[in-house]
Amino acid sequence: MERVKYMLDEKDMPTAWYNVLPDLPEPLPPYLHPATKKPLGPEDLAPLFPMELIKQGVSTERYIEIPEEVRDIYRLWRPTNMFRAWRLEKALDTPARIYYKYEGTSPPGSHKPNTSVAQAYYNKQEGVKRITTETGAGQWGSALSFAGACFNIEIKVYMVKVSYFQKPYRRVMMQTWGANCIPSPSPDTKSGRDMLEKDPDCPGSLGLAISEAVEDAVSREDTKYALGSVLNHVLMHQTIVGLEAKKVLEEIDAYPDIIVGCVGGGSNFAGVFLPFIKDKLDGTKPDLRVINVEPYSCPTLTKGPYAYDFGDVAGLAPIAKMFTLGHGFIPPPVHAGGLRYHGMAPIICHLLNLGFVEARAAHQLETFEAGITFAKSEGIISAPETDHAIRATIDEALKCKETGEAKNILLAHSGHGHFDMAAYDAYLAGKLEDYEYPKEKIEAALKELPKV
Ligand SMILES: Cc1ncc(COP(=O)(O)O)c(C=O)c1O
Repeated sequence: MERVKYMLDEKDMPTAWYNVLPDLPEPLPPYLHPATKKPLGPEDLAPLFPMELIKQGVSTERYIEIPEEVRDIYRLWRPTNMFRAWRLEKALDTPARIYYKYEGTSPPGSHKPNTSVAQAYYNKQEGVKRITTETGAGQWGSALSFAGACFNIEIKVYMVKVSYFQKPYRRVMMQTWGANCIPSPSPDTKSGRDMLEKDPDCPGSLGLAISEAVEDAVSREDTKYALGSVLNHVLMHQTIVGLEAKKVLEEIDAYPDIIVGCVGGGSNFAGVFLPFIKDKLDGTKPDLRVINVEPYSCPTLTKGPYAYDFGDVAGLAPIAKMFTLGHGFIPPPVHAGGLRYHGMAPIICHLLNLGFVEARAAHQLETFEAGITFAKSEGIISAPETDHAIRATIDEALKCKETGEAKNILLAHSGHGHFDMAAYDAYLAGKLEDYEYPKEKIEAALKELPKV
């Protein structure tokens, strides 16, 4: 009988994260201070993050040990299963072999607690009592709320307003873990008040919610800030997913030809592909293809220029070299809320710029269509973000059908969509539309790029 699930034993869970920085062929362009525009030093970031995370973000160690306490909590859901998508392959009638690593079995339902637990742990170690953050779709806010409960840390979440109302049960989930979640823009911060004055109906954006959370954190001694994506240390914490995937695929001698994932800030996908891209960087797997998938409504990698930009709307967060739609970007209210950030992880941008990875965009309707094909064959109802990766996976599998090639495709499956039923409902009722972000809006936003 053919195997469907590949499970690692608890004792085989990786004990260290993989840090790609020492393996990059050219060094990552430095992050800059938002006021001085000079390269950031550890002391600049100290009001925001615990020192251990700041050090991890610039470490030259290839492997960084995962603390025992973090591994203890990871064990609640890790190692996660790798599946062979036999039923999807059959539905597509493709010779491709599709594998997917499923992160939806974590308590909040996605990959996000791989870093929230680690971040809460280091904050606790350094005596932090309270952490602020932003959340788009609610996945990150839930994951940090869960981690706050694990370490008894107070959590405040600024949730992008449109998602706050689209997904009320995400808020309840955060509250169940003891967190305080409010819609952004909010009256609690200057950034929020300024925006509400300009536009009382502003639907919010990740960039704005970040401004609020950062402003709140720096205004209090007992508080730090946590970011759920984009930054080097976040991507590194997520590599536990790719390391587990690599271990299993090595055991069954199935190295991927193509790895596919969705990208918002880039953390889930980088977590999967970085341990593999190592083999492309060192020349052992030159033909490996890595496909980053984003929405046409927020086409950061496919339409944005590679430039230095602020990480947030108000210009309080560090400046990073990344593909960007401009930090003033207010995205249309499409349903893949986690894929609506104006920038992208600098590590992914650097690899794209150097030609080691690819990017493509997908339309909302075709992603839901793919998600439903996946649900009907594999059973799992996926997050709308993940549906973008499923779309590209199906497209690659159908290309294999045309060419007759039996490629190994590894899909980074970032989470379930159980809190996204309103989005599926809208899709099934024919109420969703495709939306392509207009070129003129990108051009206008780019006039605001910081001069560095
Ligand atoms: C299920 C899921 N996948 C993907 C993402 C995108 O984030 P990232 O690119 O950091 O993985 C999110 C963000 O909220 C998410 O909730």
